[in-house]
Amino acid sequence: MASGVLNSPGLAGVGVADLQRYVGLKHSSGVALCFPRNAKASRLRRGLIVSIAGDKQNESIKKLGLSDAECEAAVVAGNAPEAPPVPPKPAAPVGTPVVSSLPLSRRPRRNRRSPALRAAFQETSLSPANFVYPLFIHEGEEDTPIGAMPGCYRLGWRHGLVEEVAKARDVGVNSIVLFPKVPDGLKSPTGDEAYNDNGLVPRTIRLLKDRYPDLVIYTDVALDPYSSDGHDGIVREDGVIMNDETVHQLCKQAVSQARAGADVVSPSDMMDGRVGAIRAALDAEGFQHVSIMSYTAKYASSFYGPFREALDSNPRFGDKKTYQMNPANYREALVETREDEAEGADILLVKPGLPYLDIIRLLRDNSPLPIAAYQVSGEYSMIKAGGVLKMIDEERVMMESLMCLRRGGADIILTYFALQAARVLCGEKR
Ligand code: PBG
Repeated sequence: MASGVLNSPGLAGVGVADLQRYVGLKHSSGVALCFPRNAKASRLRRGLIVSIAGDKQNESIKKLGLSDAECEAAVVAGNAPEAPPVPPKPAAPVGTPVVSSLPLSRRPRRNRRSPALRAAFQETSLSPANFVYPLFIHEGEEDTPIGAMPGCYRLGWRHGLVEEVAKARDVGVNSIVLFPKVPDGLKSPTGDEAYNDNGLVPRTIRLLKDRYPDLVIYTDVALDPYSSDGHDGIVREDGVIMNDETVHQLCKQAVSQARAGADVVSPSDMMDGRVGAIRAALDAEGFQHVSIMSYTAKYASSFYGPFREALDSNPRFGDKKTYQMNPANYREALVETREDEAEGADILLVKPGLPYLDIIRLLRDNSPLPIAAYQVSGEYSMIKAGGVLKMIDEERVMMESLMCLRRGGADIILTYFALQAARVLCGEKR
């Protein structure tokens, strides 16, 4: 069942559910457009205009089976069939001021006045096919809840993970990205566990590809889960993050992931030149078909807090400001875009998502490449927390935030809501 999801029967249903829930369009209102609700006219055969309600005046055209010519003749003779009267103008509340109407040539509300019209003019759509589901994995057998991310778990790579992937595929989410919680004993200053062919990530990729050959697996390329310093690169004794030496490690990591069967490797480290170097390393090993999704504009953001708790990957000292971008910067995202395009990135990613919609739009307007947005852990947790506290409607805010990321210019969205949102789009509750 699960494996058939992407082959359209599931997705056809998704489109309909989408419209109904998120435009408020019900089947009945669509029908009403064609057949005014009060008209007691037969819908069965075209050309049979028949008033079924008793009406003395038009006796002659009441019987069934008149030809078109007879109908026309009746109308020409002044015997137009009865139709419901124009309804009276709805009353305004007592006390409503009486004003002359504003002389407006354009009233944008006209195009919003019914669910069917709103559906017709909707500019952006949202589908489970747009989602990439980030999943945390660990060596354990159990699934461990992540305190700061209600609803998210460190999944046991052999059981919980496989079940979660099956659930996602059932509602049309066939893309995932893996984030490993690495045992402290395997962490080191140079993060060598990152390219252990039998490490947690490559092992998990092989298991998933064995079960679900058509699953699209994205991987994270960065040293932080493997670094005893909690940094994305190798840290020199004076605290400097070493660029080119780190890139060397990242290339080995990406090749190891590709060897295990990864479809898209995603450098999230923000070292200079890593996209080109990884492309060359993949190609040299025969992985020309493996894509690179570059974290092009990744900001040094406090919205990553819950994620670092999930992986226990907080930097042991300092911050990530010498490699991740300054949240105050806009033009700099174009510098990164030009580099990543030139170096051969297949997808450009902006992170975080919602607070950085202007950056998503900037990349969308300046590159023909697909754009990804990462709705990060802090964004997820804020919506969850607001929902739990009953301050906001969690489901509606979730769906709106995802739609806004699409409107901003994202083709795909990495979101911890992928499963929950896809279920909503499919008309499934829980
Ligand atoms: C690290 C990485 C981070 C995230 C994805 N990859 C954290 C960081 O840069 O410190 C954050 C994702 C999230 O917050 O959801 N390479």
